[in-house]
Amino acid sequence: MSGGQYDDRGNKDATITNPTGRGELGAHPGTGHAMDTASAFLIGDSMTGGYGKGPDILHDCTIAVNPGEIAVIVGPNGAGKSTAMKAVFGMLDLRQGSVRLDGEDITDLSPQDRVVKGMGFVPQTSNIFTSMTVEENLEMGAFIRHDDFRDTMAQVYDLFPILKEKRRQPAGELSGGQRQQVAVGRALMTQPKVLMLDEPTAGVSPIVMDELFDRIIEVSRTGIPILMVEQNARQALAIADRGYVLVQGANAYTGTGKQLLADPEVRKSFLGG
Ligand SMILES: Nc1ncnc2c1ncn2[C@@H]1O[C@H](COP(=O)(O)OP(=O)(O)OP(=O)(O)O)[C@@H](O)[C@H]1O
Ligand SMILES: [Mg+2]
Repeated sequence: MSGGQYDDRGNKDATITNPTGRGELGAHPGTGHAMDTASAFLIGDSMTGGYGKGPDILHDCTIAVNPGEIAVIVGPNGAGKSTAMKAVFGMLDLRQGSVRLDGEDITDLSPQDRVVKGMGFVPQTSNIFTSMTVEENLEMGAFIRHDDFRDTMAQVYDLFPILKEKRRQPAGELSGGQRQQVAVGRALMTQPKVLMLDEPTAGVSPIVMDELFDRIIEVSRTGIPILMVEQNARQALAIADRGYVLVQGANAYTGTGKQLLADPEVRKSFLGG
């Protein structure tokens, strides 16, 4: 077809023109339904729910991660990021929607049963036992295992050498960044199939943040998909294969990390310009 007046016609929506080869990831406002939800490895699909008998906090919220990916959730304080993570981990009764892991509907499973199925979760707060030693924390992490977990502990110490040095110290004596390493290490002790991290870099210096991100990338390269919430939105989206901006419990923008970083509205409203 020769050019002319219709050259600018056609849908320029990234979800359709598919520049990434994964069209479902196009940055666009909406519920997140445009992504390929059927095949996601871990997905909280169209989740609606709140705490106890309280009002809905999540409104048709969808978050997912696939093998080989780091998926990042960002959004303002109180947007429901932690609530979405808790919902995926089974700490919240959903009024609508479902959670699926590797094709299996796990919506009705308890958090502990989800751990058995392969989910590792590091919550935003109270994620270590401060009065126990570093090593005891890691042992606690292995609570569901009946086999020899010393190899896994050695792997955690390889990943976080400082923890080996401090293994006999009460975890409460460690710095913020080191405590986060304990928390991530504890979650890795179950040999999870997927790792969920809620603000793993909260309260640490930029240098420690970079180091933690490097370790998280390293974990993802071992084949563990990672779904994480981050307050450091720019830095986190820079390493995200998949990004979600949540606002008031709903998906506001979904895309690759790159797409979200390049989106003028996302930049203006959530990344400080
Ligand atoms: N245990 C709870 N019981 C009742 N309401 C809660 C509970 N935890 C959170 N909320 C409410 O749910 C909403 C979302 O909170 P949530 O902690 O999920 O936000 P967030 O995006 O993780 O925020 P932050 O960036 O501060 O971590 C808020 O209005 C909050 O007050
Ligand atoms: Mg939170």
